Amino acid sequence: MIKRPRRLRGGETIRKMVRETRMDKSSLIYPMFVQEGTGREDEIPSMPGQFRYTLDRLPYELERLAKAGVGSVMLFGIPDHKDEIASQAYAQDGIVQRALQVGKEKFPELYYITDVCLCEYTSHGHCGMLCGHEVENDSTLDLLAKTALSHVQAGADMVAPSDMMDGRVLAIRRMLDKNGHKEIPIMSYAVKYASAFYGPFREAADSAPAFGDRKSYQMDPHNSREGVKEALLDVDEGADIIMVKPALSYLDMITKVKEVTNVPVAAYSVSGEYAMVKAAAQKGWIDEERIMCEMAVSTYRAGAQIYLTYYAKELAKCMDEGRIG
Ligand code: PBG
Repeated sequence: MIKRPRRLRGGETIRKMVRETRMDKSSLIYPMFVQEGTGREDEIPSMPGQFRYTLDRLPYELERLAKAGVGSVMLFGIPDHKDEIASQAYAQDGIVQRALQVGKEKFPELYYITDVCLCEYTSHGHCGMLCGHEVENDSTLDLLAKTALSHVQAGADMVAPSDMMDGRVLAIRRMLDKNGHKEIPIMSYAVKYASAFYGPFREAADSAPAFGDRKSYQMDPHNSREGVKEALLDVDEGADIIMVKPALSYLDMITKVKEVTNVPVAAYSVSGEYAMVKAAAQKGWIDEERIMCEMAVSTYRAGAQIYLTYYAKELAKCMDEGRIG
């Protein structure tokens, strides 16, 4: 035998030397939930270790992130008031808008990304305007663009539309540019599947649709070429970063999108992925840290350059200690 792959696995030093996937904390984004009220940090039952923060509690978590070396957050808002037209999504004093003001004042060095969607703010829980039981595409675009603009005016460094309406990246780009925000990047949830993995999130954000499902706007998990189409469309509309979501069951799409576009590719390890790991770990059935690391490594290996994960702080620690990356 001349070729022996095991030669390069003989010890820790050589194994680390030949690693093909390198990760860095600067590529982590931590998704977090902000809610109305004061003095509360409510743990999300299906996501142990994740909380809904009132704005007075938010700085404590931001401090923990900054200390862990996680430099970016993605904010999700949970309003008190929901209506047909999602008015709290674009209200100047909406929950996300005020969270941005608090964050920017206390921790200006962190990078603030906002999820732009209406489902947390509509009384019916759909991501757009309704006409009967149909989610209407074009009338939703204005509201999404208004929402994005209000986030940027409140201090967002980047906006991330997650609604899956057609044409929303262009609508948001035009609105931002018209108002002097040419420099603000858009990270598009371009390849977003209609997934059962969002279950715990919908509990956390109280955003489950009151009737029907999201299959008329989010993608069918059977489709791969359609994901390529979505990614290319969003790049044409001006998306600066393309996201694939969920991550673990869609690693093939991360690789594909990376091949067909020339923009950075992000992947979102969603609430259901986190909940599965937590639940199995609590039963003592898996090694939580090793599973968390392996999921992260495989996502980067598939081609993601940016990783959104509820495990951001814990992963940062593993990276610091050289266990992965
Ligand atoms: C809003 C949105 C959702 C998630 C991110 N943005 C929920 C959904 O589309 O139903 C899911 C995130 C997660 O599950 O962690 N549309």
